Amino acid sequence: MAFDPRAFRSLFPALSLTVNGHPAAFFDGPGGSQVPEAVIAAHRDYYVSRNANTHGQFETSRLADETVEEARRAAAALLGAEGPEAISFGQNMTTLNFALARAIGRTLKPGDEVVVTELDHDANVAPWLSLEERGISIRWCPVRLDSCTLDMDAMRTLIGPKTRHIAVGYASNAIGTVNDVAEVVRLGHAAGATVSIDAVHFAPHALIDVQKLGCDFLLCSAYKFFGPHVGILYSRPGLLDELPTDRVRPQDPTAPTRIETGTLNHAALAGTTAAIETIAAQGEGPDLRACIASAFAAIYPYEHGLAGRLWRGLGGIPGVALYGPEVSDGLRAPTVSFRIQGQDPATVARRLGERGFFVWDGDFYAVTLIERLGLADRGGVVRVGMAPYILAEEVDALLGAVREIAG
Ligand SMILES: Cc1ncc(COP(=O)(O)O)c(C=O)c1O
Repeated sequence: MAFDPRAFRSLFPALSLTVNGHPAAFFDGPGGSQVPEAVIAAHRDYYVSRNANTHGQFETSRLADETVEEARRAAAALLGAEGPEAISFGQNMTTLNFALARAIGRTLKPGDEVVVTELDHDANVAPWLSLEERGISIRWCPVRLDSCTLDMDAMRTLIGPKTRHIAVGYASNAIGTVNDVAEVVRLGHAAGATVSIDAVHFAPHALIDVQKLGCDFLLCSAYKFFGPHVGILYSRPGLLDELPTDRVRPQDPTAPTRIETGTLNHAALAGTTAAIETIAAQGEGPDLRACIASAFAAIYPYEHGLAGRLWRGLGGIPGVALYGPEVSDGLRAPTVSFRIQGQDPATVARRLGERGFFVWDGDFYAVTLIERLGLADRGGVVRVGMAPYILAEEVDALLGAVREIAG
């Protein structure tokens, strides 16, 4: 099924915004995507017709239960999970990951090792670093600066008999690198360790299959794929039930609720379902999962094409330095980062913003990577993110503006 970006765009009311007379171009997706009308409507519908706390003996409470269950089913389809019981929700990825790390940390003893990477967003590093106070050793898998990829040879030597857990990112939110997470899972399991994957940056762009990956945990965030601010945790069936999570005494101690503290944001869960259904509607197939797979089969090449257009265009502008793996045939997130020689990324981003091009600058919390690139005290990079609602002419217009700013 061919992807129709104009039809997709028409679903998003925010895309008609103008800035200083310029149409807004939302290249800020890696920081958070725009939402379609269906997601907005789902929030309204929740508050109008199903707003209650869960597990009550009356209609709106039953509907609130249904809202949560529907979101679990939709997220399970998005991730290829075994079923809704494998999906837990939380405030955002970071908060869920701290809860997960705290719980896993309680099962470890001093001298045990956890592997993190230099490529990751700090949300997939800091929760594990916090285990150092329990005597857990943190081992860092380095990034290869020549290729902007994880050093998998180093990963192989880092993983050993003391490794208990590996926290790896699926895709870099700063430079677009996609890691061989299936291989990390294989290596981790061979050493008897569990593996969690931060898929926040990967999830909006390509199909995830947690069962195929065989990972133990995977986290993502709905606001990166056209939904509201909701964190999603996949746990391989059986694993969460064993973990000593923080929880209140009356809480259901089984998966998926075992790690969910307090009342969830039900309206946002309704919106999460709508966001996943919006993705699915871009594809076709006999069920939600098949539609999502078919949608990403169309969305991925579209976004990749836009990223390639931008990469090649920027590469031809004197004074522009690109960061990250080249956008060519390989699997890559459609996120392109660059600097203009002699110019501060924040100033470049502000000047682009004034012309309606919304791009991010800085380290995007991928602090270690930006440090390793020698850019920590130089403002990091300018980051341009593709989304299926971006058009080729917006990429061309952005290139024109960068050319002018680069002077
Ligand atoms: C790769 C990656 N991981 C984790 C996070 C944190 O996600 P959240 O804002 O849901 O805590 C982000 C947010 O930008 C991200 O890009």
